[in-house]
Amino acid sequence: MAAKQASTRSENGKVRRVIVVGGGLAGLTTVIKLCEAGVPVDLFSLVPVKRSHSVCAQGGINASVNTKGEGDSPQVHLEETVYGGDFLANQPPVKGMADAAPGIVFLLDRMGVPFNRTPEGLLDFRRFGGTLFHRTAFAGATTGQQLLYALDEQVRRYETVDVEDERGIVVPGERMVRKFEFWDFLSVVLDDSGISRGIVAQDVKTMEIRAFPGDAVCLGTGGPGMVFGRSTNSVINTGTAAGSVYRQGACYANGEFIQVHPTAIPGADKLRLISESARGEGGRVWVPRDPKEKRPGRDVPEKERDYFLEAKYPGYGNLVPRDIASRELFLKCFHEKKGVYNTKSTKNENEVYLDLTHLPKEALRKKLAGILEIYEKFVGEDPYENPMRVFPAVHYSMGGLWVDFERASNGSLVMGSPRNHATNIPGLYAAGECEYQYHGANRLGANSLLSCIWGGMVAGPALATYRNNLDKSSYDFPQALFDKAAKREQDRYTDILKMDGDENPYRLHQDLAEEMLLHCTIERHNDQLDRVVAKIDEIEQRARKVGVTDKAGFANQGAQFIRHLGNMIVLARVIAQGARNRDESRGAHYKPAFKDRNDADFLRTTLAFHKEGQGGGTSTIHYARDFDYSIAGVPIHITDAVDIGLVKPRARKYEQAGAASAAATGDIKKEDKPAAKSPAE
Ligand code: FUM
Repeated sequence: MAAKQASTRSENGKVRRVIVVGGGLAGLTTVIKLCEAGVPVDLFSLVPVKRSHSVCAQGGINASVNTKGEGDSPQVHLEETVYGGDFLANQPPVKGMADAAPGIVFLLDRMGVPFNRTPEGLLDFRRFGGTLFHRTAFAGATTGQQLLYALDEQVRRYETVDVEDERGIVVPGERMVRKFEFWDFLSVVLDDSGISRGIVAQDVKTMEIRAFPGDAVCLGTGGPGMVFGRSTNSVINTGTAAGSVYRQGACYANGEFIQVHPTAIPGADKLRLISESARGEGGRVWVPRDPKEKRPGRDVPEKERDYFLEAKYPGYGNLVPRDIASRELFLKCFHEKKGVYNTKSTKNENEVYLDLTHLPKEALRKKLAGILEIYEKFVGEDPYENPMRVFPAVHYSMGGLWVDFERASNGSLVMGSPRNHATNIPGLYAAGECEYQYHGANRLGANSLLSCIWGGMVAGPALATYRNNLDKSSYDFPQALFDKAAKREQDRYTDILKMDGDENPYRLHQDLAEEMLLHCTIERHNDQLDRVVAKIDEIEQRARKVGVTDKAGFANQGAQFIRHLGNMIVLARVIAQGARNRDESRGAHYKPAFKDRNDADFLRTTLAFHKEGQGGGTSTIHYARDFDYSIAGVPIHITDAVDIGLVKPRARKYEQAGAASAAATGDIKKEDKPAAKSPAE
């Protein structure tokens, strides 16, 4: 066997690149860290990098900088994140993330992100859900866009930097980053040992299908929100890349945990987020006490309003974690039928008021203009003068591709370990929403931008180590391996173009999404979940009989959609079946028939493996309690046990003020005051 290769070139003289798929915060950070480690990268993105879904993030990024002297710290951030996530997150990666967060925000600040500042010129921090501390740095209400553009600039710089070999000699014509925008990821290229050696992708303009070698591959391809049809996600978020590698053998973890954001506005195409930061800045959620109230919100007198979150959660008020807030909204609107009365439909709707009208307009403009413009544009009402009407919307997947980590003796991560962010397919990594590692059963608001960037900061060095320790570069494998993988995908695509059945793929997607939205979101019931799984079986069968809506040889979105639909169907099964199996309530997974968290049976990670249907049958899932994989030839045994070595699981009690931080220090008192307090108080 050849010696380990940390060299720039492969044995046959090719520049050895790593492939990153996805141009959002996770993908771009991974690229930057790889470049810093001297590893050239090919970056693939389905859309222009600056249109990646991270651009939609609004409210901010968490970091316990404690500017306001409240006693916040990374330790409290860790505790509140695992408490908010109902103890399903492995704690070492969360500790690494919380410890790194202040440095990440300072780094972004130095990159030029226009964070809001206090009158003294310090970085400003706002409150977000699940904490009493001001922990969220923000750039108005367009934080994701500002972060994405800052990282994009850094990556563009590397597009101009020459690759140098070990002796510092420039490799002619080779730049550190080559960017492939408008390429759709199809699958990984696996060698005979099941090791990832590159990817197959399709140019969505010319429809050319090509295989690309890469010494390792990292997916930063976002979440699967489109499985639910309309959500706060972009239409690109079909989860197709994660679904595809899941079908190739990658383990999918905790798929059943889907976050529903409490506050969004309707739209024919998607549901537009109205950021939690509206509540972080003092916005109040209410419904009229009279369910038949017909006056516009602004005319309903104060005493006739029901501020139901503030009443039930005097400490956290409108900023309880999202799983709880969404459940309370659901209870109010669907069960109690007290949603905002809509004169057009003459029945109670699933909307509540989110009211900012009591706040100074100038402050609102400085801090929230981004979302208030969205509201005005899409609803046609002035949110400075009228309470906004909002309702819950699918927002985020806590579940995703299973990824590993290596725990350090201080309880955090061994940075640079090739295990970090590795999937069970050797050579394939994942970072960002497409993986499951940081949020357990429920993500705290403003931890997602952080986990994307931190994930990239961990995955980059892990990929570099993996690549530098390979026995044989992917670039030294015979071209036949890549030709075969490309041909397999070309054949599949040709088969799609030939499909002439009478099922409409968009209609099928709508059927799937309706089922998922109705029965797999805020409240889950086993009889309904059984029907959802049966419906998924039916949809999978019908998907074999679709007719392609477009046969064009250029920019054929119809054929591409059929492929994405196939991957959405397998992910829908992972979500629905996982929900069916988990007979407890934990975080975003709530079953009225099993109201309590059940640590004895379910304090464990759901590990799902795909089994393709045989002989015309539908696909199934194999659930594992443990499995083995290997990295750089080293065998590793994985179990579904959650690493809870840092913060002991305890019941969540957000009705009590300061429950998260006080609970972490074993200091819950009934008489805790509803204000931001240090956990020690
Ligand atoms: O509400 C928001 O601004 C969303 C933030 C997040 O999902 O982290």
